[in-house]
Amino acid sequence: VFHNVPLAPPDAILNLNTLSKADPYPTKINVGVGAYRDEDGKPWVLPVVKKAESVIVNDASLDHEYLPIDGLRKFTDASAKLILGKTSPAIVENRFAGIQTISGSGAVRLGADFLNRFRKATVYVSNPTWGNHHDIFRDAGLPVQTYPYWDPDVRGLAFQAMIDEIQEAPKGSIFVLHPCAHNPTGVDPTADQWRQIADAIRHGEHFPFFDCAYQGFASGDLDRDAAAVRYFVEQGFELLVAQSYSKNMGLYGERTGCLTVVTKTPELALNVRSQMCKLSRASISNPPAFGARIVSMVLNDEQLFTEWKGQLKVMADRIIHMREVLFETLTELKTPGTWNHIVDQIGMFTFTGLNAAQVKVLRDKHHIYMTDNGRISMAGLNSGNIRIFAEAVDDVVRH
Ligand code: LMR
Repeated sequence: VFHNVPLAPPDAILNLNTLSKADPYPTKINVGVGAYRDEDGKPWVLPVVKKAESVIVNDASLDHEYLPIDGLRKFTDASAKLILGKTSPAIVENRFAGIQTISGSGAVRLGADFLNRFRKATVYVSNPTWGNHHDIFRDAGLPVQTYPYWDPDVRGLAFQAMIDEIQEAPKGSIFVLHPCAHNPTGVDPTADQWRQIADAIRHGEHFPFFDCAYQGFASGDLDRDAAAVRYFVEQGFELLVAQSYSKNMGLYGERTGCLTVVTKTPELALNVRSQMCKLSRASISNPPAFGARIVSMVLNDEQLFTEWKGQLKVMADRIIHMREVLFETLTELKTPGTWNHIVDQIGMFTFTGLNAAQVKVLRDKHHIYMTDNGRISMAGLNSGNIRIFAEAVDDVVRH
């Protein structure tokens, strides 16, 4: 049975954790996976999460029964309001449905399965994008193409080429968009560019599918990071949006996410919900309860919500500060090249512009772990290791 099964390559992102853990070098640096680390290089359990957890574990009224197939309704409703805004026309007119998923990846997969069943079309993802997008949509059975996004010459958005591709794509294609903190480039369109992207998508009768893994993490402001999605809804689009609480609530292992759909009418939202339930039942049966209970408590309690916003800002600000320090250190070292893109980019990642050969030297010689495309997770840097990192980059760039 298994004789013709070849060994699969390790995951390009998650394998960096394994490699870095196995490396005994004292000043190794892991800037691979996008997971928040504090100033001591440690994972951070948000105090507001700890608070919610202790209430939940001591709540005698809670049991370990199954959640409904579409999850905890208090959680999915609050998630939809978080991303769309409480006063969104979709919320006010009840033209939405939220389905609880296995974090953002599960939300993308559920959306992909749904589209494969009800709106088979080519999926366009940005070039580059989070590697798993390719695998998820392909495994769901949809053809995947790319649209230009990163322009290496300006180390920024290839805006006109992106618009051209949206205009040239076959009518009715699916466009996967990162509303904030684009992974891996850290480059987001401006508000005006989003308007032009929306126009091009409407013109092509395409379907927008937002993958929002970093709401609040990019700018520290939950509303600002949701602006692109909200603009599309105001413009009358039907859409899907995948949400993850891995980064913004630090719930990586709890796999807590939501897929929200915005439809033209409340009746259609009911229909879509029912079909999403069928798909979810056949893949995960029903979603896990613990993470959803935590998030639901934080989102639905005014005091906890305020505390969360403060802690979100702590994470976002530390990352923004690391960008400044890295830029200043490379400038001080007179490292050849331009580095202002480090401070211009936003969110968890910097797309450094380092090539695969340089990344390999950084790994082999300096014990620094990053993805082959030159992406670094800014959260892996802190005041204790940032100089070591900058000097290593300086070394590989000069040689
Ligand atoms: C990343 O891009 O590093 C994160 O989204 C983690 C992951 O699952 O790949």
